[in-house]
Amino acid sequence: MSKILITGGAGNIGSFIADQCIELGHEVIIADNFYNGKFRNISGHLDSGKAQLETIDIASYEMVKYAFDKHKPDYVSHQASLMILDSNKFPHKAIDTNITGTFNIIQACHEFGIKKLTYGSSASVYGNPRFIPVTEDHPFDNQTLYGATKIAKEALMNSWAFSHGVPFVGFRYFNIYSERQGLGAFYTQVFQKWIHAIHNDEEIVMYGDGEQTLDLVHSSDAARANVLAMFNDEVRNEHFNVGTGKETSLKEILAMIEKMLGRKAKVRHVDSDPHLVKRRCSSIDKIRKRLGFEPVITVEEGTRRYIDHLMKGKI
Ligand SMILES: NC(=O)c1ccc[n+]([C@@H]2O[C@H](COP(=O)([O-])OP(=O)(O)OC[C@H]3O[C@@H](n4cnc5c(N)ncnc54)[C@H](O)[C@@H]3O)[C@@H](O)[C@H]2O)c1
Repeated sequence: MSKILITGGAGNIGSFIADQCIELGHEVIIADNFYNGKFRNISGHLDSGKAQLETIDIASYEMVKYAFDKHKPDYVSHQASLMILDSNKFPHKAIDTNITGTFNIIQACHEFGIKKLTYGSSASVYGNPRFIPVTEDHPFDNQTLYGATKIAKEALMNSWAFSHGVPFVGFRYFNIYSERQGLGAFYTQVFQKWIHAIHNDEEIVMYGDGEQTLDLVHSSDAARANVLAMFNDEVRNEHFNVGTGKETSLKEILAMIEKMLGRKAKVRHVDSDPHLVKRRCSSIDKIRKRLGFEPVITVEEGTRRYIDHLMKGKI
């Protein structure tokens, strides 16, 4: 049994990593400041004593060191981050959380001799794709501050792996979604927000012509990529795409939600959102081959789960 510290463990992806580590019999420490995390995502594990909580801000090295010193984790999964819209709104906070915070985690992993660090980068590093499907060697064409912080994270990981021997595996997540995600998250504009609006008979906003695509991966699949990498001694100091390799257009998402809810949406068309890249489609050949990763939850299944949670009043 190992001790695993998960930053952002009360959030969308981090809480699924906690579930899966606990299922494997490991001890879990959740480190989160609840900026966007939800207590309900982890309360079951806290009540059962299978996870412990440290309410810390990763931008403070004192707090990070306190948590590492107290729990002495064997492995760390770093998912805490300011997301894309908040990064635009609060640029200094984005630098503090995503860059300083990430460096604090890497440095603590070095000081405390952690066996492996897995973490969340983003497909944002690629910007608008020059080719589809996007492979890991696609150039970094990022145009957002959020994407810039992810590129900085990757550079920091590489530097401390090679100069200080801190082993990591990083994931360029595509469009990760689940029933545990906050409604303020960027991609929820075209997924969860639509479900809520159509359910409540409210107007929805369609950006551009609706032909933009997403590569939608359920958070439990993204979490499994972290768990596979953590305990695989052959794989270290590399970045992998996490997606499904399948594109779903906004129009297709809308049609699917309407069918499942049995209602027609009231649609207001606006110009394309500049934050939304035109196409997202990952190549997952590398992660399949090296980590044996396979996404298992289809967009239909993930949408059904979301609607089911909504109907049961769990969201
Ligand atoms: N969801 C996606 O589509 C997506 C896509 C690409 C990359 N990512 C990356 O995946 C990771 C996890 O994303 P998510 O979807 O679970 O988001 P999330 O917002 O649900 O989870 C992030 C968690 O980090 C916590 N947090 C934020 N600032 C913190 C701080 N200063 N100190 C401690 N905790 C802090 C939040 O409270 C939250 O629980 C992030 O690094 C994100 O950038 C997500």
